[in-house]
Amino acid sequence: MRSSNGTGGAGERSEEVIVFPDREEMGREAAAAFARWASEAVRGGGRFAAALSGGATPRPLYRSLAGSPFREAIPWKGVHLFWGDERCVPPDHPDSNYRMAYETWISKVPIPLENVHRMKGEEDPKAAADEYEEQLRAFFGSAGWPAFDLILLGVGVDGHTASLFPGSSVLNQQRRWVAAPYVEKLKTHRLTLTLPVLNHARRVLFLAAGEEKAEIMKTILITDPAEVPLPARLIEPRHGRRLFFLDQTAAAWMNRKRGDDR
Ligand code: 6PG
Repeated sequence: MRSSNGTGGAGERSEEVIVFPDREEMGREAAAAFARWASEAVRGGGRFAAALSGGATPRPLYRSLAGSPFREAIPWKGVHLFWGDERCVPPDHPDSNYRMAYETWISKVPIPLENVHRMKGEEDPKAAADEYEEQLRAFFGSAGWPAFDLILLGVGVDGHTASLFPGSSVLNQQRRWVAAPYVEKLKTHRLTLTLPVLNHARRVLFLAAGEEKAEIMKTILITDPAEVPLPARLIEPRHGRRLFFLDQTAAAWMNRKRGDDR
């Protein structure tokens, strides 16, 4: 089931919500979209810059990208991988977002290692955020905000995205590209791209699956950000596209809603 509004023309914010039978199909289709966007960007401008999300939801996507036909089809030499956020742990820690992506995907494809730009979760959080921001400025240049070709995002049931959590002062950050907020509910620091960086992406693709995500997806998709200033609801790319790939269980309310309309 596909629904979209806006034409997605240059400069116009558009969004598209696509619902898949299950998370494996969602992962395969997200991999096909990644491959298409990467090929277009490398053909058009020589490189494709994507920021990856963590957690469990992207695993089927990463697994698909590690296999045929995507392993052979994607122009890996022009692909640059970054992270939208990282836990403050070493890269070999079970909680590391880098480790999950590396083991599931990156270690299995011929991407040049210098194209894999890891957030250094093992270092002092503030220093790691400063260092990553320098890496981004070196890659994108410092004029204006960085324009990622794609930023993958997940959503927590509390409405967090990347490591931007509800009520965090980092949501007001309008200068820095990378921050190291202390997350009270997790009793730990995190590394995260800031809201303006997410909102300057050419494309933001949210992936959500599981019935536990249905309620928050309904909130994100049908409420006004002024009423519900949850981090995931504040993602509205200035000049880019906002896409949602959901599995049926995370979109169950849409069917119910359609039922109400009947
Ligand atoms: C992280 C993520 C985070 C994640 C959501 C959803 O580091 O945990 O970047 O924002 O996307 O918490 O996580 P799941 O996919 O595991 O539900």
